This record gives sequence, C-alpha cells and structure tokens, in this order.
Amino acid sequence: MAQLWGGRFTKETDQLVYQFNASISFDKKFFRQDIEGSKAHVAMLGKQEILTKQEMQDIIKCLDEIMQDVEAGKLQITEQYEDIHSFVEANLIERIGDTGKKLHTGRSRNDQVALDMRLYTRLQILETDGLLKELLTVLLRLMKENTDTIMPGFTHLQKAQPITLSHHMGAYFEMFKRDRMRLSDIFERMNYCPLGSGALAGTTYPLDRDYTAKLMGFYGPTLNSMDGVSDRDYLLEFLAALSTIMMHLSRFCEEIIIWNSNEYQFVEIDDAYSTGSSIMPQKKNPDIAELVRGKTGRVYAALVSLLTTMKGIPLAYNKDMQEDKELAFDAMDTVKNCVALFTGMVDTMKFNRDVMRKSANNGFTNATDAADYLVKKGVPFRDAHGIIGQIVLYCIEKNIAIDDMKLEELQKFSPVFAKDVYEAVSMETCVNTRCTTGAPSRTAMEQVIAIEEEYLKEEAFQEFADTISEK
Ligand code: ARG
Repeated sequence: MAQLWGGRFTKETDQLVYQFNASISFDKKFFRQDIEGSKAHVAMLGKQEILTKQEMQDIIKCLDEIMQDVEAGKLQITEQYEDIHSFVEANLIERIGDTGKKLHTGRSRNDQVALDMRLYTRLQILETDGLLKELLTVLLRLMKENTDTIMPGFTHLQKAQPITLSHHMGAYFEMFKRDRMRLSDIFERMNYCPLGSGALAGTTYPLDRDYTAKLMGFYGPTLNSMDGVSDRDYLLEFLAALSTIMMHLSRFCEEIIIWNSNEYQFVEIDDAYSTGSSIMPQKKNPDIAELVRGKTGRVYAALVSLLTTMKGIPLAYNKDMQEDKELAFDAMDTVKNCVALFTGMVDTMKFNRDVMRKSANNGFTNATDAADYLVKKGVPFRDAHGIIGQIVLYCIEKNIAIDDMKLEELQKFSPVFAKDVYEAVSMETCVNTRCTTGAPSRTAMEQVIAIEEEYLKEEAFQEFADTISEK
C-alpha cells in the first residue's frame, strides 16, 4: 500500500519542505544590499591577496552588471532560487564561470544575511527620519501661525483650560522629535559590521574586517563573531521605535477624528484625504486618519513577533532568525507610508479657528483663573474654589459663560469681584499669563519655536555622514 503512493508522497513533501525553507520571496527586497555587501567583501579579498586583482575586478564588474540588469528588469529574481544570496551567486557563476565560485571565500550566509539586514535597516532608519523631519516642518509652521489661536485644552476629554493651537501642535512636535532622537540613538549602536563573523567562529583567512566595515560606512566591525551572526537587537530597537511612532500618530489621528466630527468641527480634513459613503450621501469620512490608527496594530505585531522569536534561541545562528524579515519589512513600509500620508493630511487640513475659540469660551475653561482672581484679592483658595463652583452651576442653569455675568450678579457670590475681573478671566489673559517654559502663552511659545527652528536646521546622522565622506 505504502509503496503505491510513498514515492509520490516523499516528492510532494520535499517540495513543501523546499518552499517552507526558502526565503527568496521576501529577502529579494534587499538584493541591492546583498550585492553591495558582496562587492565590499570581494574588494577586501583582493586587497588581502586572497583573490588576485583580476579576479576581484571581474567579480565586482559582474556584480555591478547583475545589479543593473535586475534594476532594468532584464534579470528577474525568480523563486527557483532558495534565497537572494544563492540567486546572486548562481548568476555570477553563470556569467563568469569559476571566478564567480570564489565570491563566497571566507564568508557564510550567516554573516552575509546579518550584514544585508543591517544595511537594509540602516537605510530604513535614514528614510524614516527624513519623513519625520518633513512632518516636524509642517508642525512648526502650524505652531508659528497659531500662537493666538485659542482652543480648549482637555483632560479626561473634558474641557480643562484654554491653550492655543500652537501649543497643542507643539506637544506633538516634542513627540516626533523624540522619535527622531531614538532613531539616531539606535543608529549609533547598530552601525557596526558583522561581515567576517563567518558561520559563527570567524574564519582562518586573513580578512581585514576594518576595511570592509569602512567601505560600507560602518564605524567598525562587531567584536564577537557569535554575537555578530545572531544579534537582532538593533532590529528590535528599531521596531520598538517604529511602534512608538505609530502610537504617536495614532493618538494624533484619534484627536483629528474627534475634531473633524460634526459635534466638534474644529477641523475639516481636505477632500483629498477623506472618503465618501456608498449609502449615506452626506458623509465625508476621515478614513486616512482611521487607517493610520488601525495600522498601529500590525507594527506592534512585528515587534512582539520578533521578541518572541528571539527569546529561546541558543547561540549562534538558528533558522528561526529568518523570521526577522517579513513582518519587519511590512512594519518599515507601513510606518513610512503612514508618516508621509499623515503629513499631507495635516498640511492640508483646515482649522476652524472661530469654532475652537467659541468652544474654549463656552466650557468654563477659565474657572481656575476666576478662582485665582479671588485668591489674588485675598480669598483663601479653598473658599475661592467653592465660590467659583457655585458660579459655574449658576451659569450652567442660565446657559451662559462666567464672563457673560454682570458685575452685580458676580458680587452676589463674593463682594470681592470688581470690574477688572473681565480682563482677568478673558481667554487671552488665561493663555498669555501662563509664561513659564513649556506653557501656552505667546511669549513662551515663541521661545520654544525659536529653539525648534534651530533644531530643524541640524543635520541628522552627522557622524555617519562624516564616515561616508572620509571614505
Ligand atoms: N535565509 C536565511 C535567513 O534569512 C539566510 C541564512 C541562512 N543560513 C543558514 N545557515 N541556513 O536567515
């Protein structure tokens, strides 16, 4: 019985095993990095006279041609190869014969893939940083334009105290600025080259690891070959940073969705970033903001997935590590897309300044300031708090604001009230007397804006740029 289908079953299983094991469907994403790494490796082998000058030149020339042909669509990366490393090597051998077989001298796929992923991640860090910088530029513009745009500030999603739109945008500026700092911290730690770690224990060839590291803009080689092939900390750190970026974007999206609702009408999302309903003609939905908020989950998933994959792996390389790619690639692409779209949405969004101001006026956001007014006139704070509480109740019944009350009405609650109360509890006074660093007054905001303007002039990744230009 077994014989009847056994042969066929084994064959079928082999095919499944092959597909299960193969990584070309996703590691083709870093074919450029794979070729770049191979070129640096071969240049070093040539310098160390492990390969002849001629061999070195022939391989590098052919690797360049393979890169060009793939980019021009003349050479397809097909799934007949197990992974991108086999694809490049097989094509090299096909084109230049035996010389091509020398490419892999003193190298293992373990240190090769560790290098490729690092090179790819490094590039993603730079690109993500550039996109965040564009977002910060838009936020800084809004901060500059809106130091007098009064709106309610919230706690518990209840109106609390008046702030300005400038101040509110400034809060997000700080978040995305920290995100950029996180990226540059990660970069500083990860920019070391694992190539030359071999399978796990280095090699017997006289490789010059400093040279290869330098050729690819790394600060230097990694210092332990077992760690070199099995370290994925840099990727975990990057996924954690990407998760934090998504968390920030998602909070911002949540606010925009609320502000864009018919109940709030603080903002109007541009038509280009809204969508309609197939049944309700009146609808203009904030789909982009909702999608960015929604995509946060898959980015967190990439982080949790890799943390889980890594937690039980003994030194050094194990095949589990192949799982570091698919979700990470998805997270990297998702975050870049989200930041870019979000920037466009905020840049084109219309702020309804009158509505914001009215909302601040009508929510007793100046109640704290009214109590402080009484304190300044000698009323103990606890008594002042009680008096203003009663006034708020009175206003709610009459559906008016504190500043709408006549002086005689106010004086029924406390004889201390005088004409200067109106000035003291106006929205402008409430905001502009909050002058400490980080507070919403125009003067405090202008100081912050000047600092952030200087910050945006700074070049990111300066040490890396210097390393590259020294080459
Ligand atoms: N596709 C593999 C990965 O992504 C490449 C390294 C293979 N190394 C090995 N010893 N099988 O991790």
